[in-house]
Amino acid sequence: MRVLSGIQPTGRFHWGNYFGAIRQYIRLQDEAEDAFYFIANLHALTTVRDPQELRQLTLDAAIDLLALGLDPDRATLFVQSDVPEVSELCWLLLTGTSMGLLQRCHAYKEKKARGLSADAGLFAYPVLQAADILAYDSDTVPVGEDQVQHIEVCRDLAASFNHHFGETFVLPAAKLIDTSARVPGVDGEKMSKSYNNTLEVFEEPKTLRKQIMRIVTDSRPVEEPKDPQTDHLFQLYSLFADDAGRAEMAATYRRGGFGYGEVKKALAELAEDFFAEPRERRRELEARPERVSHILGDGAAVARKKAAEVLLRAQQACGVKPA
Ligand code: ADP
Ligand code: TRP
Repeated sequence: MRVLSGIQPTGRFHWGNYFGAIRQYIRLQDEAEDAFYFIANLHALTTVRDPQELRQLTLDAAIDLLALGLDPDRATLFVQSDVPEVSELCWLLLTGTSMGLLQRCHAYKEKKARGLSADAGLFAYPVLQAADILAYDSDTVPVGEDQVQHIEVCRDLAASFNHHFGETFVLPAAKLIDTSARVPGVDGEKMSKSYNNTLEVFEEPKTLRKQIMRIVTDSRPVEEPKDPQTDHLFQLYSLFADDAGRAEMAATYRRGGFGYGEVKKALAELAEDFFAEPRERRRELEARPERVSHILGDGAAVARKKAAEVLLRAQQACGVKPA
């Protein structure tokens, strides 16, 4: 089984990215025979238009993933643009993709609905994503709910290519990662870069503490009992607490007689402890940039070898290379 997933370097990772995606990817590196993870910088180019920023975010994403436990001995980590075969494959797929299919895809549709002008890159985004998946004969793609549509597009494109030119691509399946891990932001809405409500994994502890103290809470009196299940501060606390800690905090909520400030302090301490080791590993990696480029270079070599094999198969099937 080959597991593959990509993550866009459009900003520094926040708690939502970690608990909603990255943590599951890292767990899967032990279960899968083969795990491929890449930093989708070509996709990010549809939003990040500053070259220096894109370079920095791409490198930061690699360091962050390694610091959080992605192990290059157990998984292949690479940067999307280091495998040019994928872009060639993308063209082969584009020629068989109907406009209607892409018009229904949500990233493009939403941008249009907001009255913004979308470029052809955003329009073709799902086709590049399909090439990412098909290039490595991936059979399992762990993604959040928002990406399920793109996996379906990938399956459609692969199936119609296979139907027209003969069996070429492996059809992948989406593996929905735990959607109960929808992490709220500091305002209680879904945590997202687009909502400006994030808490970043590698934020400076002092800054993080301040941001946690500013988490929006209601103004009910201290003594009033409260339901923990509907409280976003409790949900954030639960991400870090163990079972006993969570049960104790839930009991405190139900009893009443506590201030949100105390919960926030406890949350800040737990979060700082939780990410202390990754923070230390990150410092070490940052001090050894040659080690990081070595890991990415090795990853790209492994990925390219596989992608070249699949690309040739597709080129032969559609007649742009001798059969
Ligand atoms: P953002 O919304 O901040 O732009 P992305 O869309 O880049 O985040 O998300 C990257 C990955 O992190 C996706 O797989 C997505 O499902 C997951 N993710 C993002 N925000 C959350 C959240 N608040 N809760 C759970 N998972 C999330
Ligand atoms: N579109 C995905 C996201 O925004 C990132 C991505 C690009 C991806 N290529 C992929 C995910 C291939 C899975 C497989 O999260």
